[in-house]
Amino acid sequence: MGQALVEIRNITKRFPGVVALQDVSFTINEGEIHALIGENGAGKSTMIKILSGLYRPEAGGEIIFDGEPLREYSALESLHRGLVVIYQDFSLFSNLSVLENIALGPYVKAGKRLVDWKAMEAIAKTTLEKLQLPLDLNTPVGSLSVAKQQLVAIARALANKARLLVLDEPTSALSKGEVLKLFEIMRSLKNDGISLLFISHKIDELFAISDRFTVFRDGKCMGTFAEEELDDDRLISLMVGRKIEYKIFGKNKRDDPIMEVKNLSKAGQFRDVSFTLNRGEILGVTGLVGAGRTEVAQAIFGLNAFDSGEILLEGKPFKIQKPSDAVERGIAYVPENRLQEGLVLCKSIKDNLVITILRAISNRAGLLDQGKKSAMTAEWMEKLNIKPVMPELPASKLSGGNQQRVVLSKWLATNPKILIVDEPTNGIDIGAKSEIHQILRDLAEGGMAVVVISSELPEILAITDRVIIMRRGRITAEKFCEGLNQEDILSKAI
Ligand SMILES: Nc1ncnc2c1ncn2[C@@H]1O[C@H](COP(=O)(O)OP(=O)(O)OP(=O)(O)O)[C@@H](O)[C@H]1O
Ligand SMILES: [Mg+2]
Repeated sequence: MGQALVEIRNITKRFPGVVALQDVSFTINEGEIHALIGENGAGKSTMIKILSGLYRPEAGGEIIFDGEPLREYSALESLHRGLVVIYQDFSLFSNLSVLENIALGPYVKAGKRLVDWKAMEAIAKTTLEKLQLPLDLNTPVGSLSVAKQQLVAIARALANKARLLVLDEPTSALSKGEVLKLFEIMRSLKNDGISLLFISHKIDELFAISDRFTVFRDGKCMGTFAEEELDDDRLISLMVGRKIEYKIFGKNKRDDPIMEVKNLSKAGQFRDVSFTLNRGEILGVTGLVGAGRTEVAQAIFGLNAFDSGEILLEGKPFKIQKPSDAVERGIAYVPENRLQEGLVLCKSIKDNLVITILRAISNRAGLLDQGKKSAMTAEWMEKLNIKPVMPELPASKLSGGNQQRVVLSKWLATNPKILIVDEPTNGIDIGAKSEIHQILRDLAEGGMAVVVISSELPEILAITDRVIIMRRGRITAEKFCEGLNQEDILSKAI
């Protein structure tokens, strides 16, 4: 095993009313893939923001990097020392080209004024070759797929001579094949002696790639463990402090159509998509990322105009043009990238939660009923276990997973007739998954028609009554979930 590259010693970080990290110590070795795991709000992102110089820890702790302590805890210091974080939004410049994104950093770092395009091109080329990434250097980054953007971010880190590369939930928007490609690159970086710190809520992925695991719980470090010392149960109990079971719910067969989708087509996205949705059921939609699932959902919600086909709502043709048409008819849609589309970051948890139901909590004069507003907020914060329990806190100060919960509850609170949720538990820790499953089941039991789009087959099998499998824009199978197993679904998805 390699030597210590980063020694994190007694790091504490407080925010008003919250101790995000409490006396945390652990070590990352040279050339290892180190997993950082913990429930939503456990302090993972705070830890890496300290590493990248975005936050300063409380006095008393220190971080030794390659034998020398960090002194300033500034972004520049971290960059100079080779500590590079790839956040979930990659922070790439989407209107700049691949070349500029990769090679501008080393330039700025060297304090050069004149841009030597030839030299930049050489840097970008070698890095891309190293990653075996045949990309056109002139492509604007914004036009690339999420997976490719991520690889450009990694290339940029390499061009900056990264020694420690931190990846905060890098796989949440990737397809299976893209994840494998990312893992391949992570392993080759590791073989070159680079250390990687990998954050994810997907336990099978963590086990597939990590050498050692550090577990956070409530801002405290529960220890670092070698991969051989752990199995799923042990890891989960270290993280959550109790046993978690993936509950499989009983399946219903309903025949009470609320919506019929007939031969929906859109060039380049999906073709001949037809299905019926019943009241009181959960319909799963699965398939590989890129199979057209999200595009269909957005078409139904008025976010994506389709070329042909029709939708019947409660037996009558439904002419959908914009999302407000759908909302008016009782359809709610919770998008996959909730953080970009679903939250007003500067507003409080409370304001975000009630934004969709203002009418329901206003009195006859149209004034907001503050009592109702507080009661609704308290109810949903408890149902989805949103932490910290501070309704007035701006949403920007919540952890990623807790932000997801706010967006989810804001749509659940509208009490729609049809609820479409795209990857409902993406970014949500394993402890809370079953709570969200229970809520969705309860809503269906209450008569709501629920559509769950999910790539996670165990999730589909646990909560849905029926499943549609999509591949390359077409439905390849429709099945009742009673007695179904993962292989049955996979064979239709690939
Ligand atoms: N800028 C801030 N101001 C106030 N509180 C904050 C701030 N940033 C984080 N926190 C709080 O610190 C705690 C740890 O948050 P952090 O984002 O590190 O969690 P996490 O482990 O990354 O969780 P997730 O899996 O949900 O992303 C949370 O209670 C969060 O609300
Ligand atoms: Mg986080």
